[in-house]
Amino acid sequence: MPHPQINNTDLDIPRDISTEIFISNWKIYRKIIENDNMSHRDGYGKLRDILINEMRRPFSFLDLACGDAYYSSKVLQQTKAEKYIGIDVSEQALTLAKKEFAGSDIETRFERADFINFDRIIKPPADVIWVGFSVHHLDTPDKLRFMKKVKKALSNGGVFIIYEPILLEGENLRLYFERFKQTFYEHWRGLSKEESESLLEHVRESEKPETTENWINLGKDAGFTKADKVFSEKTGLYEMFKYGSG
Ligand SMILES: C[S@@+](CC[C@H](N)C(=O)[O-])C[C@H]1O[C@@H](n2cnc3c(N)ncnc32)[C@H](O)[C@@H]1O
Repeated sequence: MPHPQINNTDLDIPRDISTEIFISNWKIYRKIIENDNMSHRDGYGKLRDILINEMRRPFSFLDLACGDAYYSSKVLQQTKAEKYIGIDVSEQALTLAKKEFAGSDIETRFERADFINFDRIIKPPADVIWVGFSVHHLDTPDKLRFMKKVKKALSNGGVFIIYEPILLEGENLRLYFERFKQTFYEHWRGLSKEESESLLEHVRESEKPETTENWINLGKDAGFTKADKVFSEKTGLYEMFKYGSG
């Protein structure tokens, strides 16, 4: 496979509290992945099982807010994926993502852009659209607008899968942050005091999770006829949802 370049398709890269930690210092998130603080291993294991069981023909995989593709690159090697497109705002992450796919037979393309504008970058349809830990940065109406675009961009029989933080019933953002902190201090490993402070500020200021019911209803409102929770990780912070039609 030829070595793909990273394209700067969209110069309007959002630089705010939701993206800054990833753009300026990818090392923090890489440590989070390596210490499995967000249950990447189990979550991406579930993604692999879905892809193996449900995508039995060669398929394209659009990884929105792909980060360094550390796990998606490994999962896709075990599937019939033939084409991968990764979109992210972090140049550092995209450079690593490109390396993760080096030597793979999967055709790859990397774009530095706001993932919300994916429909201006790729030529639909896509067979699988995946977002790991990123839709929750959008406000609820924007989540719905985004999901409608995803629905439109999927091929016949295509699936949309997300792995996102959840609010418990009756929980508001303040209580969510308290629960996050408790889980963080009990289970998370590997971050220095300064890195922990940056991460906690990022979570407090930019995470907008939904209840399980809302994540499902957003998919239904976007036009998906199938919208299901398919996985909960061990600390109760994150769940995976799968949306499809037909
Ligand atoms: C929590 S990380 C998730 C990375 C990867 N999907 C995973 O499962 O580990 C969030 C990623 O979203 C990217 N990101 C945040 N906002 C974005 C936006 N508006 N457009 C594109 N990427 C964005 C960050 O650079 C970062 O790589």
